[in-house]
Amino acid sequence: MTEKMRITSGMRPTGKLHLGHYLGVIRNWANLQDNFDCNFFIADWHALTTKYNQTKEILASVKDVALDWLACGIDPDKTTIYVQSLVPQTAQLHIYLSMITPQNWVERDPTLKDLAKIMKDRQENMSNLSYGLFGYPVLMTADILTFNTHFVPVGIDQVAHVELSRDIARRFNNIYNTDFFIEPEPKLTETSHIKGLDGNKMGKSFNNDIKISDTAEVTEAKIKTGITDRNRIRKDDLGNPDNCEVIYDYWRIFGSNEDCDEISCACKCAKIGCFECKKRLANIINTKLAPIREKRLELEKNENLIHDILHSGSAKARTKAQVTLDGVTDKVSMYK
Ligand code: TRP
Ligand code: SF4
Repeated sequence: MTEKMRITSGMRPTGKLHLGHYLGVIRNWANLQDNFDCNFFIADWHALTTKYNQTKEILASVKDVALDWLACGIDPDKTTIYVQSLVPQTAQLHIYLSMITPQNWVERDPTLKDLAKIMKDRQENMSNLSYGLFGYPVLMTADILTFNTHFVPVGIDQVAHVELSRDIARRFNNIYNTDFFIEPEPKLTETSHIKGLDGNKMGKSFNNDIKISDTAEVTEAKIKTGITDRNRIRKDDLGNPDNCEVIYDYWRIFGSNEDCDEISCACKCAKIGCFECKKRLANIINTKLAPIREKRLELEKNENLIHDILHSGSAKARTKAQVTLDGVTDKVSMYK
């Protein structure tokens, strides 16, 4: 049997996950588990790069993120699920990589450029960006190279980082005259982009999200706040689903083709009001999420379960990571 190709990806622990995470990321991860050797980790060091003074929140989020992942079908029997900070080999690898990474490669990083711009607009001093934050693209490279990864499933916004990790892997190979590191490739999966209830990008800080862990009641109440066709004020105004920014978009994501046709038709001839339309949508979304939510509640009941899963996953990750690290110290010719 040939060895499976390796995949690595991570997510920052910044709170309970929402439907954007589920549809855009976790669902894809779950589908990769059978055909690849997957490593999915909770990136708590990455969270520290900006939230170094909100560590209690990070800590609480680790458990929430793990619960969300497991409820959505990330399976610890198939996949190595771990916490970044429980695998110190990544930090050690980061040291070696940081020595060979030219500073201007890091400064080129688009995310950091954006951050620098935000800081400037806010008239904050650039020196408020920590050394660790500047190093974050190299840390991300270390995450990926820890398992000598072939593919990195990420969204389009992270592709530049994976490109950097290819550059660093190649540079390592050149400098130490080896083919030790595989050049990892971004794996862009088809993602369904779900808007927030207010029409902007769904995000926890915008207060426009529906959480995986929300109850059916909360979900329904949130959907009632969703943007519809802004020209449709009264129930007997004819609606236009194409102008229904958020709610009809959700129908397209969660409804069947027949559902969408039916709603579209009823909306255009004012046979259905937005109130009723949202209620039906909420029912469909809640029905789809019910198994995930039930599983999450079930997992939550077991006090030690998440702790045990994260610790045994991290032990597995350490064993794999040590093999890479031994190879690196050997190629670099460190004292032994
Ligand atoms: N930087 C990613 C994000 O902000 C998270 C991340 C950290 C990651 N390390 C990674 C993703 C390694 C893929 C591979 O979303
Ligand atoms: Fe949108 Fe439904 Fe209202 Fe039509 S009836 S505008 S699809 S919410």
